[in-house]
Amino acid sequence: MSKKIGILTGGGDCPGLNPAIRGCVYAAEKYGCQCVGLTDGWKGLVEGLTMPLNKDLVEYVIGKGGTILGTSRTNPFKKEENVKSCLENFKKLDLHALVAMGGEDTLGVAARFYKEYKLNVVGVPKTMDNDLNATDYTFGFDTAATKAMEAAEALIDTGRSHRRVMVLEVMGRHAGWVALFTAIAASADYVCIPEKKTNPADIVARIKEVYARKHFALVVTSEASELEEAGENAAMRELDQFGHLILRDRGMGERIAGFIEKQTGIETRSAVIGHMQRGGSPTLFDRMLATRVGVKAAQLVRDGKFGMMSALVGNTIVGVSLEKATGELKTVSKDWLELMEVLF
Ligand code: F6P
Repeated sequence: MSKKIGILTGGGDCPGLNPAIRGCVYAAEKYGCQCVGLTDGWKGLVEGLTMPLNKDLVEYVIGKGGTILGTSRTNPFKKEENVKSCLENFKKLDLHALVAMGGEDTLGVAARFYKEYKLNVVGVPKTMDNDLNATDYTFGFDTAATKAMEAAEALIDTGRSHRRVMVLEVMGRHAGWVALFTAIAASADYVCIPEKKTNPADIVARIKEVYARKHFALVVTSEASELEEAGENAAMRELDQFGHLILRDRGMGERIAGFIEKQTGIETRSAVIGHMQRGGSPTLFDRMLATRVGVKAAQLVRDGKFGMMSALVGNTIVGVSLEKATGELKTVSKDWLELMEVLF
């Protein structure tokens, strides 16, 4: 009988998950394995929730956003009995291996299952935040940043017409990649990212100078940036199952807009693109990257290389250890900060 590979997608969804599932299923079948979908992330393995997966079912999902498997932010390691259920269901479902597609949290769970329970697990890197270590890019990022860039350009049109300062808040959690790429690609005038605290005097001086020249300005901020003056309150400290701050109610765009208006006297508006940047059809880049890392995951299973993740290094897809990939976050690096200094 052919070996069975379970596939799950966990954490925040992003465009590219469906092409990655498709790539993995195509390759698995080519190597004589069959696949089964575990629905809603790790919750699927905890509860034994499955759906059929085969070439016919995934043939045309390459252009579809989201994930056909569903997702959740379930962390089985929160409860010992859930870890036990995962191990039991792995056996019950007669899985030879599990391919987990996710970011730092989902793959952190995969790394623990491999390290602590020797489970045959392979990872596929995804996240619109692009903050996963050991891979040059994650799919989902290109689509999300492209959507945010288009939103920023729309704000330029309306801001210029009304002679306003416009502030766009984008997601990206604790990494400023989405904000930085959006700001560069849309010719913004200022960018706020979590890796560098926004200096109040600096942003005010810059906006005044830009506004005097063109009677309009665009600021792009990450949801997790910090303005030295703004401060946090207790309501802003809600955590998810992986212990991450839930950032949606932080209102960074609005706070920066309020600050600019107060300090400069210039009419300012803010907009939040939010989850819209995470949905929709994946770009060509994301379809290709996702397909390649999905195929590689099945190859890692075929070759018995468990505890590994498929990764983009240069223009080659390679296997890297899950432990390395989830050991630390990849935030905006020194060379990118230097580029940022030049452009803003
Ligand atoms: O990690 C992906 C991400 O989109 C972050 O950029 C954002 O902070 C978070 O997910 C939002 O999570 P949720 O979809 O649970 O609101």
